[in-house]
Amino acid sequence: MKFNNISVIGSSNTDMVIKTSKLPAPGETILGGDFFMNQGGKGANQAVAAARLGGHVSFITKTGDDVFGQKARKIFEDEQINFDHLIVDPVHPSGVALITVDAKGENCIVVAPGSNSHLNTEDIEIARDQVQRSEIVLMQLEIPIETVVYAAKMASDAGKKVILNPAPATKITDELLFMLYMITPNESEAGMITGIPVTDVSSATEAARMLHERGVKVVIVTLGSKGALLYADGEATMVPAPKVEAIDTTAAGDVFNGAIAVAISERMGLKKGVEFACKAAAISVTRMGAQSSAPYRHEL
Ligand code: ATP
Ligand code: RIB
Repeated sequence: MKFNNISVIGSSNTDMVIKTSKLPAPGETILGGDFFMNQGGKGANQAVAAARLGGHVSFITKTGDDVFGQKARKIFEDEQINFDHLIVDPVHPSGVALITVDAKGENCIVVAPGSNSHLNTEDIEIARDQVQRSEIVLMQLEIPIETVVYAAKMASDAGKKVILNPAPATKITDELLFMLYMITPNESEAGMITGIPVTDVSSATEAARMLHERGVKVVIVTLGSKGALLYADGEATMVPAPKVEAIDTTAAGDVFNGAIAVAISERMGLKKGVEFACKAAAISVTRMGAQSSAPYRHEL
């Protein structure tokens, strides 16, 4: 049995996706193209991305007692992700996301979080052994913030590296920032957390510096097709994204986060790690779907 040194804690959803020529305006009905369903949820996407890239992953999550939860479990099994801490909620249904993707690959997502909203601090307490045995704990914000703070404290007190992908965007306390080794906001999340509108490399650097001053050791601001800005040891480095034709950017951020966790677990070095993550995320935007788009290591 592999030693699972990356613990991902977060959501699992089933994504229902329709490709359209444009995103609908409020009140508008439009005819789209084909419908397809694939597994998603920021936590599960990051766990799958990390596992496909060679990471040894344990995933702590909560699904409903339903067909969507069973499907998620089957995928974790196929991807050799340890899911000893997949908790089945007897009351609330599994999370579902309704996703529209336009011709440029941009998306619009609405999530019904269901059981993800009920992953609580007692569940993290039960997983204490796993959290304290891992080297890296990777989280997002599709589960209750109290759960994220509780797990971050448990992991950082034990000297583990906590990575937070602060998505979907919300305000974050300095208490939580202080417990993080790394934070990986996109432009709008960086703007929401710092109050600095992030639109380019210079404003991303300013926001990253502020997050570092508020207690996070390493900051990576992802900048979509432009790539990602790494801020570490007082120095900002821009890593450009490979040029690709994007057909669906859903989960690009998740693939990036799964990849950076693997890079850190392999002690690749931060700049090389960001290049590795940009490569993995670029491949993912050339394919439809969330988990269905995450690349395997040999593809990089
Ligand atoms: P999403 O919500 O679409 O999953 P995000 O908003 O969390 O993504 P982005 O900054 O848009 O995060 O993208 C994450 C990373 O994915 C980028 O840093 C980049 O490396 C890669 N990426 C995104 N879009 C493209 C693109 N069009 N071409 C190449 N790489 C891309
Ligand atoms: O980051 C993409 C994910 O966000 C989708 O898979 C969807 O489930 C939502 O959680």
